[in-house]
Amino acid sequence: MRSGTRHAFIVRVHGEKKLRLGVLGSGKGSNFVAIAQAIQDGSLEAEVGLVISDVAEAGLLQHARERGIPARFIAPGAFRTKLDPAAEAAFIGALHEAQVDLVVLAGFMRILKGDFLKAFEGRVVNIHPSLLPSFPGLEAWKQALNYGVKVTGCTVHWVDQGVDTGPILAQRAVPVLEGDTVTSLHQRIQEAERTLYPETLARLTQGPWMAKARPTPGT
Ligand code: GRF
Repeated sequence: MRSGTRHAFIVRVHGEKKLRLGVLGSGKGSNFVAIAQAIQDGSLEAEVGLVISDVAEAGLLQHARERGIPARFIAPGAFRTKLDPAAEAAFIGALHEAQVDLVVLAGFMRILKGDFLKAFEGRVVNIHPSLLPSFPGLEAWKQALNYGVKVTGCTVHWVDQGVDTGPILAQRAVPVLEGDTVTSLHQRIQEAERTLYPETLARLTQGPWMAKARPTPGT
């Protein structure tokens, strides 16, 4: 059961100032590369102020450094699925120091809650490899294949206190083809992500944005 208040999120209009992104990821960084490419070719008017990973050897950090973008590994602490309090404070401090307007999660494998979301309230977006609210959580492409759906896709959404529950900004459908494997379906979804994420961020630069609360079912 997915419940909870739907908050209104507003991204401030930045006037002449470019929207400054802080990108968080744990993996190879294909979404980050697509975002950086969109900035370079002028289709996304933004700048990446900082890239942070909780994984020292993440490809994401390497991609950032190759592009001359500040990139930091910050040790996540002892927990497996979230940041410990000291790490959370370090992430918040680094993003503030880099004067980030919007936090962009691109394959960040830890759940962000509490203080982090308070520090960047209504300013954290994520991409998830399914058509939410179907298949939240890990390996969403595998969940979709195992379930037998014929269409899946990807979703860009605001991040709230839940897991993959925040208000939806954009979605793109991807067909599940006869003979698909976990790998082939994942690749097709990731191709869709690489266009959807930069396009959605470009729309956000045109702010202001607001997600209105959904009415409670039955009212
Ligand atoms: C993407 O598939 C995204 O949907 C999920 O994590 C993956 C990150 O891939 N949240 P990459 O590191 O951007 O290549």
